[in-house]
Amino acid sequence: MMRIYLTTPIYYVNAYPHLGHAYTTLIVDGIARFYRLKNWQVFFLTGTDEHGDKIQKTAKDKGLSPQALVDEISESFKRTWDYFGIGYSRFIRTTEETHKKTVQRVLQQLYEKGEIYQDEYEGLYCVGCERFLTTKELDEQGRCKDHQKTPELIKERNYFFNLEKYRSWLKDYIQKNDLIYPVFYKEEVLHMLEEELPPLCISRPKKRLEWGIELPFDKDYVTYVWFDALLNYLTGIGYPEDPNWEDWWKESHHFIAKDILKPHAVYWPIMLKALGLPVYKKLFVHGYWLVDRLKMSKSLGNIVDPVTLSKTYGKDQLRYFLFREMAFGYDAEFSFEAFITRINADLANDYGNLVYRTLNLTEKYFNSCVPPLNGLTEEDQAYLDMVKTALEDYHKLFSELQFHRALERLWEAIREGNVYIDRQAPWSLIKKGELDRAGTVLRVLLEVIKSFAIALSPVMPETSQILLENMSYERPLSWEEVFNFKGLKEGAAAKKGKPLFPRIEDKPKEEEKVVEEKKEETGFISIDEFRKIDLRVGKIVAAEKVPNADKLLRLEVLCPEKRQIVSGIAQYYQPEELIGKEVIIVANLKPSKIRGILSEGMLLAAKDEKGLCLVTPEKEMAPGAKVS
Ligand code: MSP
Repeated sequence: MMRIYLTTPIYYVNAYPHLGHAYTTLIVDGIARFYRLKNWQVFFLTGTDEHGDKIQKTAKDKGLSPQALVDEISESFKRTWDYFGIGYSRFIRTTEETHKKTVQRVLQQLYEKGEIYQDEYEGLYCVGCERFLTTKELDEQGRCKDHQKTPELIKERNYFFNLEKYRSWLKDYIQKNDLIYPVFYKEEVLHMLEEELPPLCISRPKKRLEWGIELPFDKDYVTYVWFDALLNYLTGIGYPEDPNWEDWWKESHHFIAKDILKPHAVYWPIMLKALGLPVYKKLFVHGYWLVDRLKMSKSLGNIVDPVTLSKTYGKDQLRYFLFREMAFGYDAEFSFEAFITRINADLANDYGNLVYRTLNLTEKYFNSCVPPLNGLTEEDQAYLDMVKTALEDYHKLFSELQFHRALERLWEAIREGNVYIDRQAPWSLIKKGELDRAGTVLRVLLEVIKSFAIALSPVMPETSQILLENMSYERPLSWEEVFNFKGLKEGAAAKKGKPLFPRIEDKPKEEEKVVEEKKEETGFISIDEFRKIDLRVGKIVAAEKVPNADKLLRLEVLCPEKRQIVSGIAQYYQPEELIGKEVIIVANLKPSKIRGILSEGMLLAAKDEKGLCLVTPEKEMAPGAKVS
């Protein structure tokens, strides 16, 4: 029997699950269901990452002990996944004794091998990332690109793991193996590996962080959370004691978003190599769910709650949307409009309609029983052939994780079903007394719907199950059965039941929106805040150096009234070249005295490493003209 080992990241328990976490977990659940449908043995690991700075800080802020916090939030992840019917094989927590013991054992092993050593280190530490950042990982303002926060400069004695020693091995390994998908992430990792890798700090002094796994060789330190967390992929399958761990490990497939590419693609393979273990089989990396172009995340305060959303619109509707809307690997925008459009257009109109029409006619004219097949016409066969090819393509695309294309392809066959029923018009055949022929048309459609329901069960398990039950489908739920167009039992009950995908008529009301809008925290200002700034065109009519001040010029500016402005541009402009020049000024800046001279505004200027230039209007404007 073929086997596959699938993992999600283990999520931090400093915040409740949101749609971003749900995406990875639902995708992996869909893949697990897909392989189970193909009769593979599947081990699906998910869980929670419970140590580290973030957790300690959050617990402190909430006035809880770290243990109480991790127990509560870990449970909430588990409850969420159970609510969504996630078929995980094991839910691991890094605070479990067995995990902690193995982490210590691994650390001891690496320490004894000389892979871990003590040293003093100074670096920029981002609490959000729980790691030291390189300057490349900062934006122009020196902030972490992901968390938009300035990292802290930290200097301390710590234990280190020499990554550089393995850099060329890893580069070579990644180049030669299909380890990372999509390939542009492989390229990104190879790019990271072009430069020397700084040593990985694998400890935190207890005086700064207590909430972690104690280093077995130094009681004053705890283990760096990433070192502990990555090992969950091994401890989750019972490494090193369980006799089956190796068989699963050979087939390991990790799923993550791009935020944690570096720990998974650089640290983790090197840790495995140093331990003398084989590298995982594959790393699949997806993009971010964005809200108004910003990554959905707790720290940005724009999260969408998947449970509230699915209670309003349906679990399978949400699953379908997530699989259909994101091209795996790329970012995707979450919006209610797009979500509702997918529900109404794809689910209610296309799929729901086909199901409703077919089962409604079966109820009405065939006494809610599966009609017999009475010989297929060329058109019937052509439609079945088309469905078969679409299912084959769906299978291929799904296996390649191109879920959006897989569904798009299947929807061509679903839409064609609506065209087929219109063309065959079983209602007219019945009126003409051609009951046998009408029965065949409906049976073709019932068989096809059954195949769609099986094929779509990884994406929409609940609706598929209801639909198959409504058609009294009793055969095994397996991939081969999707091609069996005689899989239903003649004469068995076939009822339409409740509408599978009710249309959403109303636009979501503001209060129903589960997006938390807290843009102020993201570094944005509102348009109203921007409007408070009085920007105007000013014409410089007089300029002179300020005595005993190298950098300052005293200017007289018309805007339209005459004002005096002291500006720090003396190193870049001579007074005489400024006279007659139009500039942009901030006119409502609180007046202040600079070197005893009153300054009533500020000039706008741009600066880069080559120098400074004043911002000027592109053509001559009346002094005082408003800039907005
Ligand atoms: N604890 C670490 C992972 C350790 S794995 C050994 C961690 N946890 S996390 O709670 O921050 O989860 C990050 C993961 O959550 C992402 O890699 C992704 O799977 C998911 N997502 C969180 N926000 C997301 C989006 N906005 N969009 C898509 N996925 C997102 O990092």
